[in-house]
Amino acid sequence: MYLADGWKDYTIIDAGNGAKLERWGDVTLLRPDPQAVWTMEDRPCDATYIRSQSGGGHWEFSRSLPESWKINYRDLTFIVRPTGFKHTGLFPEQATNWDWMRSLIKQRQRPTRVLNLFAYTGGATCALLKEGAEVCHVDAAKGIVAWAKDNVAACGLSDRPVRYIVDDCVKFVKRELRRGNRYDGILMDPPSYGRGPTGEMWKMEDDLFALVSDCAQLLSDEPCFFLLNSYTTGLAPSVLKNVLRLTLPTGDCDADEVGLPIQRRGLVLPCGASGRWTMTN
Ligand SMILES: C[S@@+](CC[C@H](N)C(=O)[O-])C[C@H]1O[C@@H](n2cnc3c(N)ncnc32)[C@H](O)[C@@H]1O
Repeated sequence: MYLADGWKDYTIIDAGNGAKLERWGDVTLLRPDPQAVWTMEDRPCDATYIRSQSGGGHWEFSRSLPESWKINYRDLTFIVRPTGFKHTGLFPEQATNWDWMRSLIKQRQRPTRVLNLFAYTGGATCALLKEGAEVCHVDAAKGIVAWAKDNVAACGLSDRPVRYIVDDCVKFVKRELRRGNRYDGILMDPPSYGRGPTGEMWKMEDDLFALVSDCAQLLSDEPCFFLLNSYTTGLAPSVLKNVLRLTLPTGDCDADEVGLPIQRRGLVLPCGASGRWTMTN
């Protein structure tokens, strides 16, 4: 398993009853998690996300919380806040992928251009910029891209080479192909379902293979890595590995579950899967 066990400011205190009790800095949140099918003792927390029958949900607060607050991961700083859809603006399990990409860029010791698709609030973008890469950050949601800019500023990286693009990822990649742009690293973390800024439908099962195939042609002559993450669909790691092997040049290809340690009982909470590709030396 790719285990994100390097956090100090974030912990899964316990999990069960279809939920996870988390510490984000000095704030404790209880959020739904369908993977936590075993039981857990109830514990007090600062806010609980209540799912509603009709989809979505709301937060119930046991104490007043700041609108947002900051947490650190190693030398990075992120702004988190409880949002309408139980999200907090960060996927802590992705830290294992941030570290992997940073170690490859460090080894490479030359300029590295990276394309980050479905890039959300920029967790990976911050990690890549910190390691000296140039990043193209693409996401369909304007507000989310603004949040990414705030995270980059919170990391003190606003002067680094980053391009923010509010667009549909499929359309953007096709345009980059026409323009002849190339990247040394590519990562994507698509949702199961999504929409582009003008309603373009994204459906993981139907669209993933074509998008990865297009992205494979965007790789430079000296590619560094390709990361394919799937956090919701339940696609098995071996599926991600097959997709990478079928679309990318000969290289080292691996895939595994991604997970976070559960402090109280020494268990691990699975949080999707990642496929990782690097060029064979
Ligand atoms: C939950 S995020 C992925 C998490 C992110 N990789 C991270 O670790 O920080 C999925 C993102 O995909 C974006 N999205 C969904 N459909 C899209 C599309 N067709 N084109 C571009 N972005 C899309 C959403 O706005 C959302 O920010």
